[in-house]
Amino acid sequence: MSPTAMLNVAHLNVRYGVTEVLRDVSFAVPEGKIIALLGGNGSGKTTILNTLTGLIRPRAGSITVAGVETAGWPADRLVRHGVAQVPQGREVFAAMTVEENLDLGAVTRHDRAAIAADRDEIYALFPALTPNRRRRAGSLSGGEQQQVAIGRALMSRPKLLLMDEPSAGLSPLVVGLMVDTIRALHARGMTILLVEQNVGVAAAVAETAHVLQNGAIVHTGSAPALINSHEVLASYLGR
Ligand SMILES: Nc1ncnc2c1ncn2[C@@H]1O[C@H](COP(=O)(O)OP(=O)(O)O)[C@@H](O)[C@H]1O
Ligand SMILES: [Mg+2]
Repeated sequence: MSPTAMLNVAHLNVRYGVTEVLRDVSFAVPEGKIIALLGGNGSGKTTILNTLTGLIRPRAGSITVAGVETAGWPADRLVRHGVAQVPQGREVFAAMTVEENLDLGAVTRHDRAAIAADRDEIYALFPALTPNRRRRAGSLSGGEQQQVAIGRALMSRPKLLLMDEPSAGLSPLVVGLMVDTIRALHARGMTILLVEQNVGVAAAVAETAHVLQNGAIVHTGSAPALINSHEVLASYLGR
């Protein structure tokens, strides 16, 4: 455990009924770094994120965010403490405008001037959203909807950003833009836990990768090195 960890997870255990879905999961995300969690469908990636955001109560284990034990906290308290999630499948509110979606990310805040400034910063980060502020989010392309989902998470001013398979369902060109976006967030100092099935995306942006299988971490190593680690790719990631 590092004293500078933004997130520290130790011996996390989660069950759905009698089924053990996470077994003794431990990892850390140092401040300002991008750490990846890789694994196939059903390996437990989203369960980890949902536990970190308070949607699931762990059966055992410790979670500290910025040095504060948060295991068992309700979701709204975790948002105020600085944890934000970009959900799997984007999940923008299709009938609401882009701007209304962004403002939903700020519901826990009351600093109106700062909220407006943060909104402008998000339009600067995602210029494609600017002419579409008043459009229904559901009418945008998949890549633009992903930008709205990221922007909404950023509007809560997170210390820790959790991203659940941001590249899923995007064309290779748009995946490349997503990689650029993640790098831009990193350059702004954001601390990111990146969940992916796409090894190339994790290798391109993350420092360390943990590979999850059946709810347990089975490999930990350099994320860029994964691309050439045929044994890990074949054994755990079905390549
Ligand atoms: N609400 C639930 N009730 C029971 N089992 C669930 C529930 N959600 C997920 N699971 C199971 O937990 C395991 C991990 O799922 P999940 O965390 O969604 O995996 P991943 O995000 O890696 O695809 C899977 O076996 C899945 O079937
Ligand atoms: Mg998932």
